[in-house]
Amino acid sequence: EKERTLAMIKPDGIYGNFTNKIKQVILQSGFIIVQEMMVQLDVANATLFYSEHSEKSFFPSLVKYMTCGPVLVMVIEKTNAISDWRALIGPTDARKAKVSHPNSIRALCGSSSERNCVHGSDSPISAAREISFFFGDVSPVEHWESA
Ligand code: CMP
Repeated sequence: EKERTLAMIKPDGIYGNFTNKIKQVILQSGFIIVQEMMVQLDVANATLFYSEHSEKSFFPSLVKYMTCGPVLVMVIEKTNAISDWRALIGPTDARKAKVSHPNSIRALCGSSSERNCVHGSDSPISAAREISFFFGDVSPVEHWESA
């Protein structure tokens, strides 16, 4: 069954010039990029997007980081897109990823538990919420059902 998930290149990924490398990994792993958009999050956007983490001690720092520059959000599609993208990006803490998952995107492009260069939805419910957060409920891409 084909699935869609939200992939995001965070400001450290953009400023580190990792965009092309990350998109190359996405495409070579069999995903189709069906939508993409560069956006500058403001504090309100970032707070809403990460609302499930609002009580965490790292939340103020996370909001500051996520608003420090543009992000590239993409809707990517493939069978098992959600779990396969999570596997490709690797563990949240990029420093630990360099040891345990050295070929993961976070190991290659990230630098800490916060500055981990990419995001991926963690479940079908999150994917639906995060895709509509950025792209709305109506997809301009036609024939999604029949493709
Ligand atoms: P992400 O997978 O996008 O979801 C929540 C984000 O919060 C995470 O990536 C990191 O950028 C950040 N984060 C998670 N855990 C920590 C932590 N322990 N310290 C700082 N930032 C964190």
